[in-house]
Amino acid sequence: MFAYNQVRVFAPATIANVGCGFDVMGLALNEPGDEIVATRSVDPGIRITEITGDDGLLPTDPQKNTAGIGILQLWEELGLEGGLDIEIHKKMPMGSGLGSSAASAVGGVAVLNALLASPLSNDKLLPYALEGERVACGTPHADNAAACLYGGFVLVRSSDPVDVVPIQSPGDLCAAVLHPHIEILTEDTRRILRKNIPLSLAVRQWANVGGLVAGLLKSDYDLISRSLPDVVIEPIRGVLIPGFDAIKHNALESGALGCSISGSGPSIFALCKGAEKAESSGKAMQETLNRLELESDLYISPVNQNGPQVLERS
Ligand code: HSE
Repeated sequence: MFAYNQVRVFAPATIANVGCGFDVMGLALNEPGDEIVATRSVDPGIRITEITGDDGLLPTDPQKNTAGIGILQLWEELGLEGGLDIEIHKKMPMGSGLGSSAASAVGGVAVLNALLASPLSNDKLLPYALEGERVACGTPHADNAAACLYGGFVLVRSSDPVDVVPIQSPGDLCAAVLHPHIEILTEDTRRILRKNIPLSLAVRQWANVGGLVAGLLKSDYDLISRSLPDVVIEPIRGVLIPGFDAIKHNALESGALGCSISGSGPSIFALCKGAEKAESSGKAMQETLNRLELESDLYISPVNQNGPQVLERS
């Protein structure tokens, strides 16, 4: 059943929600991302033998590990025999709003699929990756994992049963993503959200989701720009991010199509037409954090259309 003995996979960071699409929209980035290596072993069972880039924070018990749990469950479901040694190389910040847990979870199921010469579809793999999200933050929200796994822009119409709709997006759409060096846990930022919202806000929000999807499909930048705003979640979470209002103001002033919180934050993204505009918007956003003397990373990336990539196999 196995086609290879060892595979190394890259799984990309993602922007979840993408403004108005709380829990239902996401897009993949070219960088940063995690790398997962799986090596077959004669010793039975799944072991996490090495984790780097996590400051010793992640559990090596596969049952409790975001990458391990999906591999374990998929392994059992397929009735595979023998063993597997897993290395997890975190090459992106954790608790950053860039889909770090999803990248590891997707990297895990993708590396096992690649060892088998990729017989399993994304629809089949997604539920196993979502087990990783459940372990990481208590809820199996699918927007990060689906974007990471399918690549491109996605609409998660339903995660159970899986109904992920890839949305074609204009080729020159580019994201600037600013990551302030503070950590915010998704679990905490979900707890503070209101369980009920006024109908008038819901109407504005779902009009924007429809507008964003239509704007992407039609390459209508004005429609994308008008539709990105999040009137439900951002007003609550924005206060947790130092300088958020000024950062957003700077992004819009410098010509970004829209700007909002990436996933549950603290990263902030701006979507722009073209890489040059993304560079200048990103720098304008970063100025606010420089003034606040808060360190940050800035990533500029087009929409990654590939999802997980096999880097090496033997
Ligand atoms: N949709 C999720 C949230 C993404 O906003 O809580 C978490 O990265």
